[in-house]
Order: sequence, then structure tokens, then C-alpha cells
Amino acid sequence: MDLFAKCTLDDRPDVYRAMGIYPYFHEIEANHGPTVTIGGHEVIMAGSNNYLGLTKHPDVIAASQKAAAEYGTSCSGSRFLNGNYVIHIAFEEELADWVGVEKCLAFTSGFLTNQGIIPTMVGKGEYVVSDKDNHASIVAGTLIAKALAAEVKRYRCNDMDNLSKVLNTIPEGAPTLVVSDAVFSMSGIVVHLPELVKRSKAKGARIMIDEAHSLGVLGKTGRGVAEHYGMKNGRDIDIVMGTFSKSFASLGGFCGGPKEVIDFIKHHSMALIFAASMPPSAVAAAHAALKIIKREPERVEQLHKNALYARQGLRSVGFTIPDDPTPIIPVVIGDDTKTFQFSHRLLQEGVFVNPVISPAVPQGMQLLRTFFMATHEKKHLDHVVESFAKVGHELGVLE
Ligand SMILES: Cc1ncc(COP(=O)(O)O)c(C=O)c1O
Repeated sequence: MDLFAKCTLDDRPDVYRAMGIYPYFHEIEANHGPTVTIGGHEVIMAGSNNYLGLTKHPDVIAASQKAAAEYGTSCSGSRFLNGNYVIHIAFEEELADWVGVEKCLAFTSGFLTNQGIIPTMVGKGEYVVSDKDNHASIVAGTLIAKALAAEVKRYRCNDMDNLSKVLNTIPEGAPTLVVSDAVFSMSGIVVHLPELVKRSKAKGARIMIDEAHSLGVLGKTGRGVAEHYGMKNGRDIDIVMGTFSKSFASLGGFCGGPKEVIDFIKHHSMALIFAASMPPSAVAAAHAALKIIKREPERVEQLHKNALYARQGLRSVGFTIPDDPTPIIPVVIGDDTKTFQFSHRLLQEGVFVNPVISPAVPQGMQLLRTFFMATHEKKHLDHVVESFAKVGHELGVLE
């Protein structure tokens, strides 16, 4: 059979295009922050990770433009060789101080960061123990580690008894890394960090936490999941991973930890050594965002107020909504076609959300994922809730 034959076997995109409800790759014509323009209409953006609303902040835009003018539009090479600029270093130093780790190392994307850390830290005869609902970039990192002869084990999402059970199958003293998302990106659930730390440390394992959806979000000052629980990076979490594509209004990722670990990753990670570095404009944008997060913690507070308001609103009109204190709010629909119909109707009502189907979530758990921002106004949140209620009744999802 020809290699390309499979490309026409899955006809689902065409089926949903023919039905007029295909929900992916929408063409966004303009970004106004809490709203965007699609097809000439302004709609509320309730499907973006721009949690603190900083992508349109004048300081972030000005810093990004200045860096492009000063250092050029690309570094044209990897950190390892010709793409390591003074602005990368200055940003990493301030970030390490804020996160509370000895050193940070910036990668070109969050995805590459997970692919860069895991196979570098876990090799032949060593173990990586990963939550089953971890992000695809962690899965990709574990698959590379496995190809390099590491042992990969998984445990049920946020199930700490199951984590212990899995840890108990590992030979005593074998080098082990336990990896979890801080906030699971499909469900908005927060990791049970105190238990995860207790059980992993009891077995002598190291702990890595992906803070993609928790930096700038969890904790009073947005420092992430450790701050949320009154714990400490560097003491309770060994390796902190984060992205700059969400609260930091840019593109890129980083890992933070003890200086010898970061130096090791610097000299051994393929994803760092063989990928061109974050461009100057992206470094400067993320650095400017960090300064804003530090000086305006009230943005984090506003984000939580908005998420709580939206959560309570969606609940009040009849949806079952989890309790976790994050701006990721899933609304389970439970069927592919209905999920797509729902998101299509929401867009017609002026609300953009993310439809999520299998394999990103299990069959029966197909959902509409909403994200809220600090810069959403009350009128936006009210319109989202009213539209969900209207379409929910129309499609028979609500009684
Ligand atoms: C938990 C998690 N980790 C890593 C990533 C990858 O980050 P990026 O999209 O910035 O490459 C994402 C992206 O959505 C994520 O949700």
C-alpha cells in the first residue's frame, strides 16, 4: 500500500466541513485581547491561553519591537553555538529569581522543553513515571526516553495511591523522575502536589512539574503550583518546567532547577542544542510580561475573580463544572458531532471556545474547553454564560 493512502482514509474533517460545523483552524483576522475578529465579526475569545491578557499590552509590544530592531528578527542558530544573546541570559536570571530556582534555561517552545528535559535526564536503566493525562509534549519526551532505553511507567490521573503502586514496582534505589502537569490542560484539575511530593520523595524519586497553565495563574503572586500549596520550588519540586506562550504572552519555554542539572541539560539536550533559539522579539516580550506579572499581582487576582464568576455562571444555568480554582473550565458534551455543533452555534452567538474530542479526552468525555482571561469584562463573561445556556437548551444538552 502507498505511504500516502492513509491520508484519505480518515474522512471526518471532510464530513464536518460538508456539515458546515468543522471547528478547527479558524482564521483569526485581528486580536483585540479579550475579543478577536473572525469572518469579519468580533467574537469573545474564551479559548485562548492569554490568561493575563498581556499579548496586547503596550509594554510587551514595545519591548518586542525594540529587541527586533536591536538584535534582528532571528538568532539564526541554537543557543549552543551562535544563538545565545545577552537578552536570553538576563531574562533567565530574573526568571530563576522569581521562580525560586538556582538556574533557568530557555528553549524555543514549551513542547521542545519537555522533549528536551525528559530524555536528557532519564536514560538507560532509569525510570520516568508520568501521569496518564500529562500533556502531549511530556508524552513525546517519554517516548524519546523510551527509545533511548529508559523505562516508562504511567499512573492514573492525579491518583496518588496509583502513583505509589507504580513507584513500588520500581527496583529500590533505581534513578526515577516523577512528572506531572501542575494544571491538567483539558480538565483544569490541579495536581495533588503535597501527596505527589511526599510519595515520590519517600521512594527517593526526583520531581518535575509542568507549570504551563499555573505560572501567572496559581498562587497569590502567580508563581505557580508550589506557591498555591505553600510549598517551595527548589525544595519540593526539583525541576520546574514552563512555557512563555500562555501568561507570558510570547513563545518559548524553560526549565528551572539546580545549577548542575541545568548545566547538564545545556550540554546534553538535543532539543536545545539542535534547535534555533527563541528570537529576540519573543525573549523581550516574555521578559516584559514577567516584569508586569511581578509589579501587578492584581492581574492574577482579577483572573481568579473572572474564572470564579464564569464557573458560577455556567453552573447556575445547569452545567456540571469542576471546582478547581483555574481559568480552564471544561463543559462536557459527550459526543463528537454535538460538541462541534455546540461550538459552531457558540461562534454564531459571538463566543469562541475549543471543542475537544478523543484521543485528547476519552470517548464520552468530549468537551468544550473554555479559558478565561484577566482582561475579560463582566459583559463578556455574561455573554459567554448566556450563549452557553441558549445553545445548551437548543441542542438538548440542558433540560
Ligand atoms: C501542559 C502543557 N505543557 C506544554 C505545552 C507546550 O507549550 P507550547 O505550546 O508553549 O509549546 C502545553 C501547550 O499547550 C501545555 O498545555
